[in-house]
Amino acid sequence: MAVLAIDQGTSGTKAIVVDDDGAVLAISEQPVYPRYLADGGVEHDPQVLLASVLDTGRDAVMQANCAIDAVSLANQGETVLAWDPGTGETLSPAIVWQDRRAESVCDTLTAHREGIRARTGLELDSYFSAPKMRWLRDQVGAGGVITTSDTWLVHALTGEFVTDRTTAGRSLITDLRTTDWDRELLALFGLADEPLPTIVDNDAIIGTTAAFGPPAPVAGLVVDQQAALLAQGCLQPGTAKCTFGTGAFLLANVGQQPTLSTRGLAACVGWRLRSQTTYCFDGQAYTAGSAVRWLQNLGVIAQPADLDELAVADAGGVLFVPALAGLAAPWWRPDARASFVGMGLSTGRGELVTAVLEGLAAQTVEVIAAMQADIAQPLDRLRVDGGLTRSRRLMQAVADIGQIPVDVYPSPHATALGAAACARLSIDPTLSITDAVPPWSPAATYEPRWDSDRANDFRTRWHAAATSTLPQKDMP
Ligand code: G3P
Repeated sequence: MAVLAIDQGTSGTKAIVVDDDGAVLAISEQPVYPRYLADGGVEHDPQVLLASVLDTGRDAVMQANCAIDAVSLANQGETVLAWDPGTGETLSPAIVWQDRRAESVCDTLTAHREGIRARTGLELDSYFSAPKMRWLRDQVGAGGVITTSDTWLVHALTGEFVTDRTTAGRSLITDLRTTDWDRELLALFGLADEPLPTIVDNDAIIGTTAAFGPPAPVAGLVVDQQAALLAQGCLQPGTAKCTFGTGAFLLANVGQQPTLSTRGLAACVGWRLRSQTTYCFDGQAYTAGSAVRWLQNLGVIAQPADLDELAVADAGGVLFVPALAGLAAPWWRPDARASFVGMGLSTGRGELVTAVLEGLAAQTVEVIAAMQADIAQPLDRLRVDGGLTRSRRLMQAVADIGQIPVDVYPSPHATALGAAACARLSIDPTLSITDAVPPWSPAATYEPRWDSDRANDFRTRWHAAATSTLPQKDMP
């Protein structure tokens, strides 16, 4: 059985063909480039996203040269667009999850913040899809539908109008307990009259597509972060992974009961497979790979591989707060801005690059600390995946500052492999979740080299620097 699994992410689209044993038979990748607007807007051209799905999918199938039994799709989670369901024609750019322009919508609902959190498990923040849907509806006027990008892509492939339970669960308009659309929340966001896609489980067969060759079922839709959680085998409560992609997302399995975070983490659906919902906590750093792309755009580095080449042993007191798109959990301050502090005349590129890597690590460690305090079984190791795990310096910094061993997933395709696992579960009802997710051994392990005093001192200084990016309110 061969599955074409497509990971449509913020910085790129990747298609792999994977066989029953998890062996990757073909890989095709394309970068995609969001537009960054001066007002905090971050947009994609949806046609570019669709073209990248079709191009990489067809290329991978051609390379694999075998029959495809199912096509699965992992998506960006909270990226939304307006489109015409009659023609599939787009009516807006895709508003990317990093876009902050829907803060104005959240500002009108602050009196409901606690109620929304209790119902949805999520903070009232423009990161999630409903504020963006409301904002976009005001921009485009009446007509068409406004959905997350997965719904549009799947419609283009199959003609169906669906989203999956993990994507819907990151909207602020579903109930964490029922995992369905919530009429009161829809009314609160002014979305009561919106046509909404049917929410499907992560092992549902959606329809058929002939976009990649002979007709094949489309099955196994899932948010990219949850796909990586599954691929990394985080099947037991208390197991967690961090994916270093465009952002860095730390997700921990919290079991099969809907549970609210007490530390500002998002509580959401990990997956619904075999008619059973598994929940997770999610802590987000909005910029990881996008901070590296920012360094490239500024000409500080030519390519990501330069990070480890340029990094120096000691940043000389320079600290970086990577709030280039605001700060998420546990702060939830979309108005935060990035900053370098502690620079002097001797500060060079090496110190700046080192400060960025340590800043990315420190931001992740804040989320690890919130997770440690919030879940019943504290993390004793951290599983990681994603493109930035290639930076040995960054991974060592996470281990050092977080005082936790870091295990690197052996494949660069965790997200696509998670989507492939969902597809296999969809088309083979006899398969168990455990059988769909092969065990793995780390490609590398990073043990902490700093002692705890040094790590604590760094965290204290970095936290103070982060506080300075928030001029009006106090940090938690
Ligand atoms: O919440 C957004 C996240 O799911 C996007 O992931 O891989 O595109 O950085 P990625």
